[in-house]
Amino acid sequence: MKIISVAGARPNFMKIAPLMEAFRKTPGCQPLLVHTGQHYDERMSDLFFRQLGIPQPDVNLGIGSGSHAVQTAEVMKSFEPVVLEHKPDAVLVVGDVNSTIACGLVAVKLGITLVHVEAGLRSNDRTMPEEINRLLTDAISDLLFCTEQSGVDNLRREGVADEKIFLVGNVMIDTLLKNRAKADQSKILGDLGLQPRSYAVLTLHRPSNVDNPAIFGRLLDALEVVQRDLPIIFPIHPRTRKNIPAMGLADRVAAMKNLRMIDPAGYLDFLKLTADAKVVLTDSGGIQEETTILKVPCITMRENTERPITAEVGSNQLVGTDPKKILEAYRRVADGALREPQIPPLWDGHAAERIAE
Ligand code: UD1
Repeated sequence: MKIISVAGARPNFMKIAPLMEAFRKTPGCQPLLVHTGQHYDERMSDLFFRQLGIPQPDVNLGIGSGSHAVQTAEVMKSFEPVVLEHKPDAVLVVGDVNSTIACGLVAVKLGITLVHVEAGLRSNDRTMPEEINRLLTDAISDLLFCTEQSGVDNLRREGVADEKIFLVGNVMIDTLLKNRAKADQSKILGDLGLQPRSYAVLTLHRPSNVDNPAIFGRLLDALEVVQRDLPIIFPIHPRTRKNIPAMGLADRVAAMKNLRMIDPAGYLDFLKLTADAKVVLTDSGGIQEETTILKVPCITMRENTERPITAEVGSNQLVGTDPKKILEAYRRVADGALREPQIPPLWDGHAAERIAE
């Protein structure tokens, strides 16, 4: 069985790694890897391949950045000849980025079985580009693998047949558990002069937060207060780095002496940073899950989450972008007023094996 797996952007790489490994170990399975090149530089891509031992892609489409339409169209145009040449039995896509829907569409139009890993997640917010990618990819997939029960429920509600849906757990957590010990050797805390549990980690890259100066400014209102309490380590996404000066926020950010911007961190350094943080503030999807398994308090600065289990049983507080709410959540962390978080079912490090099976 020949399977083309697709990886495009940073959050895909930690999901693809355990799948490629599981497929390689499966008798009769011939895995191929296609990198669309949506993310392309050392810190957003290459470093992850090396650290996670992902095999060199068989094909790199080299798409790069662009508007949503351009990016999606370029991936489709370049992926179609690859599928025609290799004639796979299945195409597997992960997550919710533009590469996910682009390659999914190409596959089904050529009559190839489409597999979606991390299916069924819904923020119910159609202004979010990823939500459109999730809805459309799930609508055309033949096999849908879910990380949590809400994903299964959403797919059933949308009319997906039961026999296509499988609750298997979370491949990103496979990668986290596998790399935990290695990440512990990271020197990042020493390099930054930090002690465990005495700093916060911040990530921000959602267009709804960082493309809007009013909302970005409100987040800074809250962060200004937090950084008076403890250092905030801010590995900065390229989109956010460009937007800070473009929105006239550079002086405000520079004035926050305890807000420490660093380059996007590699997988192992970032895992070490989050595992030892007192609190993580984020608008990422994946980090809500990673902090859940690490049992590190997470404050999610979004109005909704497609990963509700992280707030229902995990360490996540979903608070929106109102500074008052962000600071209330921060107080609960500082006061130790959170309940003991639980690990979601099947987040046990074996999701990729279940999928391969
Ligand atoms: C994409 C995904 C998002 C995911 C995020 C993680 C979509 C719709 N969005 O958003 O779901 O959470 O990745 O990072 O697919 N850039 C670089 N180097 C790179 C890649 C990008 O400098 O290697 C720059 C681009 O030039 C662009 C900006 O980062 O200006 C945004 O990149 P893009 O791929 O358009 O979307 P993300 O915001 O990263």
